[in-house]
Amino acid sequence: MKPKVYSTLPMPEHVERYLAKHCQIYKWESENPITRKDILQELKDIEGLFTAGLRINDELLDHAPQLKVVSNMSVGYNNFDLHAMRKRNIIGTHTPDVLNNTVADLTFGLILATARRISELDSFVKAGNWERTKDDEPFFGLDVHSSTLGIIGMGRIGEVIAKRAKFGFDMDVQYYNRNQKPDIEQKLDITYSDLDSLLATSDFIVLLTPLTDETYQLIGEREFKLMKKSAIFINVSRGKTVDEQALIQALQNKEIYAAGLDVFEQEPIQIDNPLLEMSNVVTIPHIGSATAQTRDAMAMRAAENLVAGLTGHGPINQVT
Ligand code: DGY
Repeated sequence: MKPKVYSTLPMPEHVERYLAKHCQIYKWESENPITRKDILQELKDIEGLFTAGLRINDELLDHAPQLKVVSNMSVGYNNFDLHAMRKRNIIGTHTPDVLNNTVADLTFGLILATARRISELDSFVKAGNWERTKDDEPFFGLDVHSSTLGIIGMGRIGEVIAKRAKFGFDMDVQYYNRNQKPDIEQKLDITYSDLDSLLATSDFIVLLTPLTDETYQLIGEREFKLMKKSAIFINVSRGKTVDEQALIQALQNKEIYAAGLDVFEQEPIQIDNPLLEMSNVVTIPHIGSATAQTRDAMAMRAAENLVAGLTGHGPINQVT
C-alpha cells in the first residue's frame, strides 16, 4: 500500500504526478480556505505532510500518530518545533539551494528600489507629477554601486548576494555570521566583521539569518542606533528577526534612510501597520522565492524529499 500524504499546498501537475506514483495524495477539496483546525482533523492516518509555514508542534503531532515525514516547501523551517519532532523521530526536510539566485535577485530589487526610490517615484509619475519630481533634489536617491554592503548571515543565499554586489555593483562587502567562512572570503574578496562594526559602517544592511531562539529580534533599538543615518535596512529573512517597533521608530526618527521588507512580524501585515504609510519603506508580501521556475523547483524538491523519507532513502535535505 502506498503511504498516505496530505498536502496543504497547491503543487504543479507534474509534481503531483510524481508524488502520486509513490503515495496516495490527500488535500483540502473545499472552497473555503483551510484552517489549522481543519488540517489537524485530516491527519489521523497520514504518514507524510507536504507543507510550508505550518507549525509542526506537539499539538499537531498528537493528531498525526502515523506521521513519519514533514516536507517543507521552503528553505526556512522555523515552523518546525525541532525538539517535538526529534522526540518522535519525525523526519523534517526543507528546500535549500534551488531558490538561492531567485532570493538574491529579489534582495537586489529591494536594494535598488529603496536606494533609488523606485516605488515612491513610480506613484508620483502615475499620479501625474512627473515635472514635480524629475530634477528636484529632495527626490534624488542614493548610489548603490561602489557603496558598502553588510550581510548578516552568510549562508548559500548570502554568498550569491555577495557575488552580485562585488562583481555586478563594485561594492565592498562585509559579513557577519556565527562561523567565519574563510573560503568565501577568499573566493569573493569579502571581509568578516563583528556585528556592531558591520552595522556602523555599512550603507546597506541585508538581514538573511534564519529565525532561531538566538536570532529572535537580533536587530532592535540598539542596533538601529548604531547604523548610519543614511543606511538602508533590508530584511529577507523572517519578520521576527527584527524588533518591528524599533524599526518603525528608527524610520520615524530618521535614524536610518529607508527599509526594504519582504517579511514582517505578522503576516499578512496588518493594514494599520505604520510601515505601510512610509514612502521610504518598500513592502512586498514575502515573495523571495516567488518565480514560476523556482517555485516549481521547490515543489519538486519537496516532493522528492517526501518520497525519499517515506521510502526509507535518506531525503536530500533533511533537518531532523
Ligand atoms: C523560504 O523559502 O523560507 C523563504 O522565505 C523564501 O521566500
